[in-house]
Amino acid sequence: MKTENRRAYISSLAHYVPEEVYSNQFFEKRLDTSDEWIRTRTGISERRFAFNKGTSELMLPAAEKAIARRGIDKQDIDLIICATITPDHVFPSTACLLQNKLGIKHCWGFDLAAACSGFLFALETARRFIESGAAQRVLLCGGDRMSAILDFEDRSTCVLFGDGAGAIILEASDDPEIGVFDANLRIDGAGKDFLYMPAGGSAKPPSAETVANKEHYVVQDGRTVFRAAVVGMADVTAEVMERNNLRAEDVAWLVPHQANMRIIGATAERMGVSSDKVMVNIDRYGNTTAGTIPLCLSEWYDAGKIQYGDRLILSSFGAGYTWGSVYLRWGIK
Ligand code: COA
Repeated sequence: MKTENRRAYISSLAHYVPEEVYSNQFFEKRLDTSDEWIRTRTGISERRFAFNKGTSELMLPAAEKAIARRGIDKQDIDLIICATITPDHVFPSTACLLQNKLGIKHCWGFDLAAACSGFLFALETARRFIESGAAQRVLLCGGDRMSAILDFEDRSTCVLFGDGAGAIILEASDDPEIGVFDANLRIDGAGKDFLYMPAGGSAKPPSAETVANKEHYVVQDGRTVFRAAVVGMADVTAEVMERNNLRAEDVAWLVPHQANMRIIGATAERMGVSSDKVMVNIDRYGNTTAGTIPLCLSEWYDAGKIQYGDRLILSSFGAGYTWGSVYLRWGIK
């Protein structure tokens, strides 16, 4: 397989969100919060929750649709990567569960945990497999069932998140002007205390005490994460634009992680792109963690709003901290 100058591109994609819609009024009735507070502070009006599903069940319909749309035999998938922090189980991996559900016979795969940057980190990983020739067709799923790890009595976190997943297929492009051009990814564990789940891992295994203390839920210092996200996401995005000689007018779409409308606005402002070039669906889905970016891409593609050759900037910030930005040119006609 020729590997020189191989560029990876998104050849198909789809998404899945649970049918059950939970508006801000759902929380208003249960907690000391208001629709007005949630909308003005975050941009969220409603979100979807799937209380009885594992993340692999959110990814499965998206994966099936992406494969069907591409018109390939599913047996041509040789690598599955699942970006998630809410795997069905600690082990086996969600990738194994998905492979089995899809009935793909000769592939390998793994999960990748980078919280809200999971999709971008997995995209960069998949891209390298395609570019090197080590993989021909990668099925990459990004999604989370955040309702599994939310404390529905904590107003500062439970209103922010939702459940959902997206799937893309990545393969080698025939056109050298199409595909993923650059990625600028970062981690900084100094952020570990500001957004995390206290127990359930090897450092603090589950016990009656950790359950009683509600240590299996998302804990966030919102203000600190907010400040880090505004700076981090805008910085890496500006760097990606600079090193690829991109001006704001060259960019068809900014595809930001959907955590907070004000973080999205700050990134767009730093890039100098107008709000009509920013994909936003946080109002309908909240923060689906590794699901936000593929959900946006898939919805905008379904609506016919992304054209062949369009330059897209994908940007994210999340727990870890993890953050990054990817520059790609759209390749589905
Ligand atoms: N309803 C009403 N009041 C709420 C509330 C809710 N759902 N959640 C928090 N508040 C209160 C707080 O208790 C606080 O009250 P106090 O001043 O009496 O202590 C007040 O609102 C302001 O809280 P603060 O955290 O400063 O608000 P904020 O403007 O920073 O907005 C977030 C909070 C969480 C929306 C915001 O910080 C944020 O989006 N952070 C980053 C999230 C993120 O990007 N995560 C990473 C990616 S996963």
